[in-house]
Amino acid sequence: MRDFTYYAPTEVAFGKGAEQRLGKLLKRYGATKVLVHYGGGSAERSGLLAVVREQITGAGMQFVELGGVVPNPRVSKVREGIEICRREGVDFILAVGGGSVIDSSKAIGFGTPYEGDVWDFFLGKAKAEKCIPIATVLTIPAAGSEMSDGCVVTNEEGWHKRGYSTNLARCKFAIMNPERTYTLPAYQTACGVTDILMHTMERYFSLEDDMTVTDAVAEAILRTVIDEAPEVLREPTAYRHRAQIMWAGSLAHNDLTGCGTLGDWATHHLEHELSALFDVAHGAGLAAVWGSWARYVMETRLSRFVRFAVNVMRVENDFTDPRRTAEKGIEAMERFYRSIGMPTSIPELIGRPATEEEIRTMADKCCRQDTHTEGNFKVLYRKEMEDVYRLANV
Ligand code: NZQ
Ligand code: ZN
Repeated sequence: MRDFTYYAPTEVAFGKGAEQRLGKLLKRYGATKVLVHYGGGSAERSGLLAVVREQITGAGMQFVELGGVVPNPRVSKVREGIEICRREGVDFILAVGGGSVIDSSKAIGFGTPYEGDVWDFFLGKAKAEKCIPIATVLTIPAAGSEMSDGCVVTNEEGWHKRGYSTNLARCKFAIMNPERTYTLPAYQTACGVTDILMHTMERYFSLEDDMTVTDAVAEAILRTVIDEAPEVLREPTAYRHRAQIMWAGSLAHNDLTGCGTLGDWATHHLEHELSALFDVAHGAGLAAVWGSWARYVMETRLSRFVRFAVNVMRVENDFTDPRRTAEKGIEAMERFYRSIGMPTSIPELIGRPATEEEIRTMADKCCRQDTHTEGNFKVLYRKEMEDVYRLANV
């Protein structure tokens, strides 16, 4: 068991009509001039932005708006937001949307008080010392950015997708009303479900396997999400089921499932290169490579994959053949992904196999020209990264 610090300072307002608490929360956290940041239009169409504007005005605050954040948010939009914050004297950023909008908000938050270019943070050239306070009205359970310290942004120059983490950018509060997720298309719901599972599994596949309380929490989250996903796809307006998924999304990535363990994260970073190169949805990209990663690394600690198969995927334990039990667990997870409409290979993800050159480019970027490895369960160098991409490419 590893020593750990658990830090989850975000106040959560969860439930029906939770967005009606926005004005009071903004006041409590000292906002006077708010940047309302949002995506491509879903929040406008659903009427959520109208409620947000009413709440801010009703609480006697001013606001400016910046919409147009795209999935895999771009650094150019972040720079636009930084300009607005400086010009308008913004002292609070409200992200109305999902992970992309929240991450764009976070980058604007620590980019505004910084004198250099915001991309410096993502290159490891700068460390955030200040950040405009951020909060969110969450509309999609997926990335978990509402309670995480992470922020992932894409630079269109060279299509680099990079993360930067700082506690300073954690949301002060997160408003989560499961009713606001009813309008999610089935594909986005499934991508979100996959990301939630993967945030738990990245931490679960750890060589530290004596943290039984953490394992039990992780397994409960995984089983719940696997059981609830078909329900929300069948009945998108079922509050009870949407609520389970929404709360699971935050618990999966607020580090609760990482207490005492050392996570792996190779699948995530292999995926980030897929979404950088092909602009695919993050969740779909994860589903496309996970099975290949799992088969590639499982021998490192087969018992972990056996435990996953039995406790999460409800596979019967064949004590005489642990490899077969582990394999059945991976197959069961891939069947689940396919059942919710997710791809389990690169050709299914992008409509064709990746070329050899594309595989080499992704591996090259992922290992940052041989200066960086991925994974802890099994350490992946450039060659191993290429191997996993190739396995996923059939
Ligand atoms: O832009 P709009 O019109 O709002 O549409 C969005 C978008 O097209 C739509 N959507 C969101 N809520 C909706 C809705 N449509 C209808 N009704 C609603 N209620 O969903 C689409 C996807 O939105 P996005 O914010 O991109 O999704 P997600 O939350 O999955 O975020 C993905 C981004 O987060 C990063 C990913 O890499 C990706 O860039 N991640 C961030 C992490 C973090 N900060 O901790 C960790 C994750 O591992 C992940 O890497
Ligand atoms: Zn993720």
